[in-house]
Amino acid sequence: MTRHFLTVSALSPEELVAVLDLADDLKVTRGQRADLAGRSIGLLFEQPSTRTRVSFQVGIAELGASPVVLHRAELQLGRGETIEDTARVFSRYLSALVVRTLDHQTVERLALAASIPIVNALTEYSHPCQALADLQTIREYKGGLAGLRLTYLGDGNNVAHALLQAGAMAGMHVTVAAPPGYEPVPQVVEAARESAAHGGTVTVTDDPVAAATDADVLYTDVWASMGRDDEHDARVLLFQPYQVNGALLARARPDAVVLHCLPAHRGEEITAEVIDGPQSVVWEQAENRLHAQKALLLLLLGAADRIPAVTPS
Ligand code: CP
Ligand code: NVA
Repeated sequence: MTRHFLTVSALSPEELVAVLDLADDLKVTRGQRADLAGRSIGLLFEQPSTRTRVSFQVGIAELGASPVVLHRAELQLGRGETIEDTARVFSRYLSALVVRTLDHQTVERLALAASIPIVNALTEYSHPCQALADLQTIREYKGGLAGLRLTYLGDGNNVAHALLQAGAMAGMHVTVAAPPGYEPVPQVVEAARESAAHGGTVTVTDDPVAAATDADVLYTDVWASMGRDDEHDARVLLFQPYQVNGALLARARPDAVVLHCLPAHRGEEITAEVIDGPQSVVWEQAENRLHAQKALLLLLLGAADRIPAVTPS
């Protein structure tokens, strides 16, 4: 049975921990495993990307496989060939396909038609690969995940969705503080509550100060995501109280760490003082994209010998 990774809920709580464990191993043993030698993995990016594109491309090469970089305009997709036919054909050449596109339905349609794993490298709905690296990073700095207070401030977007699901599954107390009207979608909040494990909880509020108080981790992302650029100016005033700045950070625990998926807009969702300050772990977080995604690919392709056998869903 083909395993896809369209949202974090494609993994069980046990698999999530196993991926993080393997990611830690791969970080320490970088360059020593070529478990995917002889395979080819497609990378289809319909939106800009710095970290996701390069970390996948490098990670695939480090695992011994060939990354095949695809551009929509150079495929027959750009001339009207269907998503389903494209998925069927790719399944005859590739071992997996990594896709960044705005419309989540596109990755769902690919997954329905493909007989190879489809990996969501960001849609408007979710950014699950990011959440794997986020948890790996938090665990590195905090020594564990269960029981920690993780507060996300800003837009209830794709990154917030993935973090809610992953954090709750890992037993964290996840709070999203967003302006009214910009909360995460209710179905995601409900699904995160349902899949919460190890005592994990989920809270949504519009109060940034209460949310930041005593947090172990503060997290933010851009106020206007890809596809929402035209809303940027209207959002800046509305989102101002959710800015991660020195005053808000002072509300968190003294040993709190600050994460941002990047790209960052200094002076908007986060101040330079905070993102470039001693509590920021964003560069380690960016590096961990590489290790976490390598672990994910090994799991999806059944090559993660340290991961217990997976029950097809
Ligand atoms: N965080 C992240 O996904 O960055 P890119 O958009 O540069 O891939
Ligand atoms: N929420 C942002 C994340 C970028 C990595 C976006 O979708 O543009």
